[in-house]
Amino acid sequence: MPLTQFLALADAIEPEHRYRTVYDADFSVLVPGKEVIDPDTLAAFSRIDFTGHTVVDLGCNFGFFAFQARRLGAAAVVGVDREPRVLAGCELLKRHFDANGVDFACHNIDDPACPLPEQRFDIAMLVEFIGKTFVLENRVAPALAFLERLSDRELILSVQKIYWIKKELGTTPERMLKLYPAQYVVGGDFLLLDYVRDFFAPRWRMEALSPMADGYEKPRKFLRFTPA
Ligand SMILES: C[S@@+](CC[C@H](N)C(=O)[O-])C[C@H]1O[C@@H](n2cnc3c(N)ncnc32)[C@H](O)[C@@H]1O
Repeated sequence: MPLTQFLALADAIEPEHRYRTVYDADFSVLVPGKEVIDPDTLAAFSRIDFTGHTVVDLGCNFGFFAFQARRLGAAAVVGVDREPRVLAGCELLKRHFDANGVDFACHNIDDPACPLPEQRFDIAMLVEFIGKTFVLENRVAPALAFLERLSDRELILSVQKIYWIKKELGTTPERMLKLYPAQYVVGGDFLLLDYVRDFFAPRWRMEALSPMADGYEKPRKFLRFTPA
């Protein structure tokens, strides 16, 4: 019954809020979304040691990574999103999966009065959250700063390493140089991963959980930050 209710709710939600394909426990597709989970993403995520840890997942959408963290042994997970109807869907999926230990909370992390940072978690996650709009609106640093307030032990992020400034961001290197230091605007590229790494240094040390080649790569990379 919760599954039937979930499918009806997901059908009624605007497509822009259905970000991630929703999977059943056996990974069959329940609701197609804009982004699928591929084997590389699953492999990178499974390299995180969740065993016995408390976890917060910011911008959880329908909770894929929150549920998966619990399946991988987390003691307690809180999925956070600002969309109440998305969270209503998460609650129905929680009943469908019989997933105790996973809770959901409505917060807007852009709100300076957001009370979430009063809590601390072993692992704080920001997965597939920072994208083109964040880069263009110079909102990457505030999102990273918010994440950092939630854990002093481990931060997990996924970002696209490099954006092509003209083709992907639809702007010019000159405009990007008004927003970011020159070392992150190199030729026609914006070096997001370097920017994120340097934001957290020297407090945190970065480790790539995804395989990483030199130069441009489209798939987002999972990164783990631990205290330096
Ligand atoms: C691109 S989706 C990523 C979903 C999820 N992390 C995943 O990878 O499956 C971003 C999610 O963050 C939520 N979101 C966007 N801005 C937010 C904010 N300021 N506070 C809380 N949630 C936000 C959106 O509603 C959406 O569900």
